[in-house]
Amino acid sequence: MRTETPPTIYRKDYAAPTYFVDTVEMGFDLEPELTRVATRITMQRNPAAAGKDIELYGEELDLVQLRLNGKTLTARDYRVQGGILRIPGAPAKVTLDIETTTNPQRNTSLMGLYVSNGNFFTQCEAEGFRKITYFPDRPDVMGKYTVMLRADKKKYPVLLSNGNLIEEGNLPDGRHYAKWEDPFKKPSYLFALVAGKLVCQEEKYKLQSGREVLLQVWVEDGNLDKTQHAMDSLKNSIRWDEERFGLELDLDRFMIVAVGDFNMGAMENKGLNIFNTKFVLANPRIATDVDYANIEAVVGHEYFHNWTGNRVTCRDWFQLSLKEGLTVFRDQEFSADMIGSDSGRAVKRIDDVRVLRQAQFPEDAGPMAHPVRPDSFVEINNFYTVTVYEKGAEVVRMYQTLLGRDGFRKGMDLYFKRHDGQAVTCDDFRAAMADANKRDLKQFERWYSQSGTPRVAASVRYDAKAKTLELTLEQSCPSTPGQKKKLPFHIPVAVGLLDSKGKDMALSLSGEKTAKSPQTTRVLELTQAKQTFKFTDVAEKPVPSILRGFSAPVVLEYEYSDAELAFLMAHDSDAFNRWEAGQRLATRRLLNLTIAVQAARQSGHVVSVESVLGNLQQDDALTNALRTTLNDTSLDPAFRELVLTLPSETMIAEQMEVIDPQAIHAARQFLRRTLAKDLSADLLAAYEANQNKGAYSPDATASGKRALKNVVLSYLAELDDEQAHTLAQQQCDNANNMTDRLAALAALTNSRAEGKGKALEAFYTEFEQEALVIDKWFTLQATARTADVETVRALAQHPAFTLKNPNRARSLIFSFCNGNPSAFHALDGSGYTFWAEQVIALNGSNPQVAARLARSMDRWRKYSTTLQEKMRAALRQVADTPNLSRDVAEVITKSLS
Ligand code: ARG
Ligand code: ZN
Repeated sequence: MRTETPPTIYRKDYAAPTYFVDTVEMGFDLEPELTRVATRITMQRNPAAAGKDIELYGEELDLVQLRLNGKTLTARDYRVQGGILRIPGAPAKVTLDIETTTNPQRNTSLMGLYVSNGNFFTQCEAEGFRKITYFPDRPDVMGKYTVMLRADKKKYPVLLSNGNLIEEGNLPDGRHYAKWEDPFKKPSYLFALVAGKLVCQEEKYKLQSGREVLLQVWVEDGNLDKTQHAMDSLKNSIRWDEERFGLELDLDRFMIVAVGDFNMGAMENKGLNIFNTKFVLANPRIATDVDYANIEAVVGHEYFHNWTGNRVTCRDWFQLSLKEGLTVFRDQEFSADMIGSDSGRAVKRIDDVRVLRQAQFPEDAGPMAHPVRPDSFVEINNFYTVTVYEKGAEVVRMYQTLLGRDGFRKGMDLYFKRHDGQAVTCDDFRAAMADANKRDLKQFERWYSQSGTPRVAASVRYDAKAKTLELTLEQSCPSTPGQKKKLPFHIPVAVGLLDSKGKDMALSLSGEKTAKSPQTTRVLELTQAKQTFKFTDVAEKPVPSILRGFSAPVVLEYEYSDAELAFLMAHDSDAFNRWEAGQRLATRRLLNLTIAVQAARQSGHVVSVESVLGNLQQDDALTNALRTTLNDTSLDPAFRELVLTLPSETMIAEQMEVIDPQAIHAARQFLRRTLAKDLSADLLAAYEANQNKGAYSPDATASGKRALKNVVLSYLAELDDEQAHTLAQQQCDNANNMTDRLAALAALTNSRAEGKGKALEAFYTEFEQEALVIDKWFTLQATARTADVETVRALAQHPAFTLKNPNRARSLIFSFCNGNPSAFHALDGSGYTFWAEQVIALNGSNPQVAARLARSMDRWRKYSTTLQEKMRAALRQVADTPNLSRDVAEVITKSLS
């Protein structure tokens, strides 16, 4: 019984602000239960908005006083409605004095000003500033901020805000103050303050221009042994942005602060980035190779926002991908450049595409599908999505693919030249790319306006006499909510042709003069619904390698034979497509096996799935191809690990008309066991060959070897024999780093090894004080093969578990609901009941995190009618909960509609 449906906000309704802000002076008296905030805003009317009210947003605030040009306003002078305070009839030049109070201690939403482990933090993006004071809290209103912080000196010795520290000192009664000034105009969502007991690692760093800046990484006491990697990543980021994009740090001081309670990954507040501890703290004892890589990426991401986001910001929140898609693209390129080698870049590319397919493709096919630049939203926090971020990054990458690296750089330069200091739109970015390169990118706009994942169907016709190859590409895009019919996209399709020896052929297109040094990869531009490209001088019938490097975020449909896929796996010069061929082959096998499992189940015989599958013909093409790759030491170990990793259960599910989680799980497990048996000698050899002796280093070479060794261990563990148990136990006991330790513990947990209970316990005891490691401990058990909803319920009773901490909630609840499909979708619906309980519980304390969990049900219409009924009932149960937040209500409503 919701009281009222929250309103939908539309992009088409955008109206410029009625007043622009010049300066903002804030004074904070920080107390956990009652913080006083005095704000003085100077503003000027927008000449285009004569006669309009002043509009200030505010949420959950107590307004103590409001003065306009020195005169106290009474309730008759303004109206408050739907979170907006309107002051009519104000003059053109205004000074507002606003005094508000809030209760940070009780703020469990982690938006606005809140307390985490006794310290104060803020999170203002997207609309959290309005929980601190009444303000024109929208990104196209920018002001120059001066911030005075006052607090008890013993409890809160460190007082930080954006920009430069200009004054500090003591106050009576054991209090002290610090005054900060940010020299740059900024939107309110980039405001930040931090106060508390924190310590920092700091370093002076010289920019290429010779200017010296102060870099700091702030953490809780006891964590200074975990900040070096973040600091190194920050320095690398600064250097990289200078070199690749000519962008310099514009501040004298740059701070990163780690906080244990945080809704998302991190936040790019001007000069004062606030990070989830997960993306700062690392040492070999507590962090895995993946953690190290993520920290580098997120530190880079937030730092790069300083130009793409802060110096040039978004006009409105519909333009979110303007900064997020672009900044994800930049952090992806940064990580790739940090690895350096070609094979390392390919590995990074494959990783990024895996995320896109695993999470964004399903989003684009579900009830929450939206364009990269959405047309409407109920709650903006629900639109910090893989579509806006990861698909947005693919859209930016396509500019670079179409324009070349230099052309892309020209576009970036023009973008900053035109828009530095402004709040702009995705169209402005596209215009800069087009104008700098004198290209027409009008049709490219559809990547921003149309949702859904395009399909590109390819077919070839080889003419042996004329020595030509016709490649026909036909595009389509499924309908999505609110968008039935789609128009053709502008799609860059990178293509190569392999001769019978597996070598790249020189490519020339019909109508072209033959180039002196013809390319072996051509970027074709597919702009119509159907187009044919004719290659000339094609000496023999080739095997096409299409969509090299995943040149566009589409699904490529091409009827490869098994033999062709094995051939591409062995020979394609494009590492992405080499990997892709293996994934296609494995997907084909997994789908067939899944059908076999279903058939076995239906036959009614009480036979084990194993015995039915065991009679299936053995699959030599895949086994042999994987064996060849595994043993090919000329290939990067990190790449071999990716090839050996079978498509996830979620990936298989997306390929099915009706998802059958248990059949998929059985099929994939069967294939893994079969491969483990058939390749056992090769696996053992690879395990030995990729042992890393010596001190731990998270570099790409060492981590690649560990990744390969550990995927090999996971295969061997499928045999569940004594040899595998011993290997896992030994690795668990002897590991000198978290990557190896966790991989071994996972292998044990998923086996019948005797020592597994003891190993889990010992792990807990050893890391009890390390919250981020305890998160891993929960995740490991929630995603274990033996786990069911009862396991997870029991773990939720563990004293270390709390829903209040987002990382902890994610480690157990999200990991189970999203990462253990066959258990979550238990036929009795118990997983759904559990899900509903958790969403409802979180809804009360943290709507943003609750709405994320609500998304686990996105694909409910893809399951059997029996499961659908149970899922609908769970969705209804949430929908009927009193006091449902806007966040959760939007997700559930869209799911049910
Ligand atoms: N701008 C941040 C980042 O991607 C994300 C902040 C999102 N916060 C939120 N409450 N929605 O780096
Ligand atoms: Zn971002």
